[in-house]
Amino acid sequence: MRVHGKPTRTITPVPQDRAVDIIDQTLLPQAYRVLRLNRLEEVAQAICSMQVRGAPLLGVTAAYGVALALSPCADDATLLAAIRTLGATRPTAVNLHWALMRLQACLLPLPPSLRAEAAWLEAGRLAEEDVQQCRRIGEHGLRLLRALVGVRGRIEIMTHCNAGWLATVDHGTALAPVYAAFDQGIDIHVWVSETRPRNQGLLTAWELREHGVPHTLIADNAAGLLLARGRIDAVIVGADRVAANGDVANKIGTYLKALAARAAGVPFYVAAPRSTIDFACTNGADIPIEERAGDELRLLQGCDAAGRPGQVRQLAADAAVANPAFDITPASLVSTLISERGACPASSDGLSALYPEERSCLFDTSIHPDIHTS
Ligand code: MRU
Repeated sequence: MRVHGKPTRTITPVPQDRAVDIIDQTLLPQAYRVLRLNRLEEVAQAICSMQVRGAPLLGVTAAYGVALALSPCADDATLLAAIRTLGATRPTAVNLHWALMRLQACLLPLPPSLRAEAAWLEAGRLAEEDVQQCRRIGEHGLRLLRALVGVRGRIEIMTHCNAGWLATVDHGTALAPVYAAFDQGIDIHVWVSETRPRNQGLLTAWELREHGVPHTLIADNAAGLLLARGRIDAVIVGADRVAANGDVANKIGTYLKALAARAAGVPFYVAAPRSTIDFACTNGADIPIEERAGDELRLLQGCDAAGRPGQVRQLAADAAVANPAFDITPASLVSTLISERGACPASSDGLSALYPEERSCLFDTSIHPDIHTS
């Protein structure tokens, strides 16, 4: 996608410097800054602090983190320690763990002398696959959106969090069909929910604005009213993990939108690539939910009137808060899943029809033994 008119991706390898460049998403929308990461620890910190975020981008970033870790020494201990360090950063988005398992399977059988180079190549392949998969999600989602251009002659979409190109390498998941529709001249408008407490909706508003897509930011609590009043044709969100039965983990607040959409008879679409589908996870109850620091609620982030970034305290440091970062939307509330292979019902039958090669995984709980311990 474009930033200030220039084609841009969220992550760019700089292998000759043994580095990757990322967009520091904690500074957006106030400031656009590229940050260079040279070491494994910097990558892990960027993931934890959400300088990089969004399920598909977490996977690709973790893969480059392994490549950076292997630059000085690529023995088994270094490789496995890097995978452990990165795997401990964020638990819910399965893309991160999927990417690490893929790097491990690719690198461990190789002699250490070949691993660093192979890690850069494999991370690059993951990044390219992500771009192509998101592009195809856009094409499949566009078919669904076209069907919604009814008597109004335009489409009103609601989304939550940021599942645009900032959350992937390029194009986005939930926003890929929106960009595809806009680029084809369809009259489309997006209602963007703020997404407290981290305000990823501001990232969505920023990237829609960069692309010229009409949009309106709303407080999270305004979504129910808009849906009930018939102002929305469809809700489209991304996912951090889709269980084998079609249950969806996504940013906290997604479930409430799905409930309101069902009550209003509005389709609720979930767009996600293969790397987000966890065939080893039976249902949503098995998905680990990240609990983030309470200060994300106690402190507000932004700029002062002079444009200087800073924080404002809204609650005492010892005020009791809870900050679960994701929720589970049951498959029964999801109208359709959209992946790079097409659209399917949110069910084990729907998923295994799209991914017939994964059917055996439905019975193999050893794939992510670190995660599925319950
Ligand atoms: O905590 P975040 O900002 O990483 O959460 C991101 C989301 O929940 C997105 O909706 C999800 O990763 C889909 S990304 C295309």
